[in-house]
Amino acid sequence: MRIAQISDIHLKPEGELAYQAADTAGALRKVVDHLNHLVPAIDVVLLTGDIADGGRLGSYHLARELLAPLKMPLFIVPGNHDHKGRLADTFPEHAYLNPTPDGPAGGFICYAVEGYAVRLIGLDTVTPGDHGGGLGPERLDWLNATLGDRPDIPTLIFMHHPPFASAVGHMDLEPFKRRDNLCRIIQRHPQVERITCGHIHRPITLRFGGSVATVCPGVGMQIPMDLRPEAPSGFVLGPPGMLIHYLDQSWGDPPALLTHVELVEDHEGQFGGFHPFYDVENPK
Ligand SMILES: [Fe+2]
Repeated sequence: MRIAQISDIHLKPEGELAYQAADTAGALRKVVDHLNHLVPAIDVVLLTGDIADGGRLGSYHLARELLAPLKMPLFIVPGNHDHKGRLADTFPEHAYLNPTPDGPAGGFICYAVEGYAVRLIGLDTVTPGDHGGGLGPERLDWLNATLGDRPDIPTLIFMHHPPFASAVGHMDLEPFKRRDNLCRIIQRHPQVERITCGHIHRPITLRFGGSVATVCPGVGMQIPMDLRPEAPSGFVLGPPGMLIHYLDQSWGDPPALLTHVELVEDHEGQFGGFHPFYDVENPK
């Protein structure tokens, strides 16, 4: 099974650059085209939030138009820049985006995707008015019960905010609420192979709750490598990126969930290849 994860598009309405600098619509077009042409084909795409930059309806209309050519199923969780109501209205066929307020996760967008070799669990880490993100008691209880239902299937959890500090100073100002509770739940359910997030706009890997946590590069813009506490808030315009989570059985059981970072050319010829290895003269 091949799962692609994209994140942090930060779309503006048609014709507007994000922060007067980033052609986020152009980046998404290239990413969608890249996803459609990967070989072997991707089975499912996860979008981990910040679809729109300012939550305007025109941004979601553009997102719908630009994501429509995707050839594979798409699953979405919101980010702190999203407006959940407009997101749900724009993608009405994604019924999970419109949970009932008295639902099991307290009206938050939390859901499990069944039927694949890897079970996918989407979590909504966005509490209105709270930029830092976190999980309330209802969402944590829902997660614990949902993981308890199927302990035998490799599971990937996807959500917007990482439940850990990134060491990029300006991204760590507001800690993830109830991080320790989440950590204990993950420890209780060893089938969790991956907790994968967005929000930081650069690839990160660490151990969390005895599992492996990752952060996906951004589509719309990237945050530069600057691990000083006083790192200034800002971005660069590098190639857009994605993660490919791949359940691999090529060396037998147990299967391994691998995560590759994949970058996408944002202008033709940027990566300067393909150059075959086989005609290079090897030393004896
Ligand atoms: Fe973002």
